[in-house]
Amino acid sequence: MKVKTKSKKVNKAWLADHVNDPYVKLAQREGYRARAAYKLKEIDEALGLVRPGQVVVDLGATPGAWSQYLRRRFAPRSAGTGGAAVGELDGKIIALDLLPFEPIEGVSFIQGDFRDDAVIARLEAALGGRAVDLVVSDMAPNLSGIESADSARIADLVELAVEFSAGHLKPEGVLVAKLFHGSGYSQLVELFKKTFRVVKPIKPKASRDRSSETFIVGIGLKKA
Ligand SMILES: C[S@@+](CC[C@H](N)C(=O)[O-])C[C@H]1O[C@@H](n2cnc3c(N)ncnc32)[C@H](O)[C@@H]1O
Repeated sequence: MKVKTKSKKVNKAWLADHVNDPYVKLAQREGYRARAAYKLKEIDEALGLVRPGQVVVDLGATPGAWSQYLRRRFAPRSAGTGGAAVGELDGKIIALDLLPFEPIEGVSFIQGDFRDDAVIARLEAALGGRAVDLVVSDMAPNLSGIESADSARIADLVELAVEFSAGHLKPEGVLVAKLFHGSGYSQLVELFKKTFRVVKPIKPKASRDRSSETFIVGIGLKKA
């Protein structure tokens, strides 16, 4: 006898939402690897963060939609050609993820765990001493469903992104990070306020309403 589990129902609901989701359709039409592209696009359009010529670090980059968006913004003349733009690229994008990443022309990729010092050292080597204009982090750990453990994992990744940004951003640089409402959220907002001159929480329309996912933007480092 087959037992209908809750997770099967949830998967069905997710699949139905996914198939009917306007951002999924738009991503297919515009050649993005994931609907996530529109979250960064909205944040960028609201705050004007991405400009050609910048050095950008994309944390938790796989499958690569944010890198595709950045790539297009750095190659305005070839934008709209579908997928990541190719050819001329005015800017530097370094993407990092635990998982493999299908190459995007002109985007450097480092596979590894951002919590690992040796991986940070590889990222620093790829930067070659250049200061960073923008760090974007869409990193999300695999969730266990145990709230205290999950919020500790989420907080750990956001804290590391803030620490990396504090050490590598230009004084006027920006960090965009994904976090989740729930336990630990207010402490992370406090950490942003201690680190950045301006802090803006933002929930893009492309981020599903029922998801506790949200984003926070820190602009300009406070002097230590
Ligand atoms: C929501 S996905 C990112 C989607 C991506 N922004 C895009 O536009 O395609 C989250 C990613 O975070 C990565 N991730 C989670 N923990 C990580 C860690 N400790 N180090 C590096 N990447 C991590 C996962 O492997 C996953 O690919």
